[in-house]
Amino acid sequence: MKKLNELLGIKYPLIQGGMANIAMGEFAAAVTNAGGLGLVGAGGMTVDSLRENIRIAKDKANGPFGVNLMLMHPAVDDMAQVVLEEGVKIVTTGAGIPSKYMDDWKNAGIKVIPVIPSCAMAKRMAQLGADAVIAEGTESGGHVGELTTMTLLPQVVDTVDIPVIAAGGIASGRQLAAAYALGACGAQIGTCLLVSEECPIHDNYKAAVIKAKDSDTIVTGRTTGAPVRVLRNQMAREYVKKEKEGVDKMELEQLTLGSLRRAVFDGDTKTGSLMAGQVAAQLKEIRPVKDILESIITECDEVIAGLQ
Ligand SMILES: Cc1cc2nc3c(=O)[nH]c(=O)nc-3n(C[C@H](O)[C@H](O)[C@H](O)COP(=O)(O)O)c2cc1C
Repeated sequence: MKKLNELLGIKYPLIQGGMANIAMGEFAAAVTNAGGLGLVGAGGMTVDSLRENIRIAKDKANGPFGVNLMLMHPAVDDMAQVVLEEGVKIVTTGAGIPSKYMDDWKNAGIKVIPVIPSCAMAKRMAQLGADAVIAEGTESGGHVGELTTMTLLPQVVDTVDIPVIAAGGIASGRQLAAAYALGACGAQIGTCLLVSEECPIHDNYKAAVIKAKDSDTIVTGRTTGAPVRVLRNQMAREYVKKEKEGVDKMELEQLTLGSLRRAVFDGDTKTGSLMAGQVAAQLKEIRPVKDILESIITECDEVIAGLQ
């Protein structure tokens, strides 16, 4: 089996998750320059700012980078066109099925890698011609499915013939080694990069991630069909309480309106949406992206050698 780094022409088999409002061009370039695959996250951007951030990444990255498109974004048709016009070579997709863009992207030689939460979606994406899938477990930060990485990953590996990338709950070499054991060719990571020096989130957000304990994340939005894993704070507690009371969707939306931006830009740890995965508790310090990636790879090699 080919490793993800060989498939994508990068040093390490690690993709940086396309985090909305966080994965700007400069950050994507920093991850690529550290040996991973940086992604510009189009969620939270306009068509123009996506183009601008792709150009920043192009200018600053000394290797391949990609774009993450959220398919429920109202401007996704135009964004799908921007990736073509800007010559982007790798696109990951979330929250939907990219059928209508597939022919144009494939004709342009773009590698298409959808994020999927189930075997049925993995199968569908493989039939559409996806080059690989990212099987994302519910441990991850941000929008989540139901299945854990431990259960989803091997089932997806047994379902499709294309490479499978693990996501959700990976922040150490031990976890990457486990993902390999389950059949993955590499991993997508998000939460552990929030505490990198280069990550452009507010210091309060980074401090909250570092302070988090193992059971400090919670999923909001299960009742509205848009579950999101965040750090437990005033907003999240209130949201889940209101969900239990059965308040209507509009009232719930008032709580989350602009909440990711409040966390990322204002450092509002009370009413902001501090998206983070269950690995937050493993993260103890702020380090350069390069150190984070290298320590995952080094530990993974040691663990695999130890098992043999
Ligand atoms: C703050 C945050 C925002 C995220 N936003 C997005 C997004 O816009 N699009 C997407 O496909 N995934 C998003 N994700 C998921 C990541 O791309 C990645 O799959 C996930 O973080 C991996 O799991 P981990 O958090 O356990 O490392 C986000 C994750 C975090 C932590």
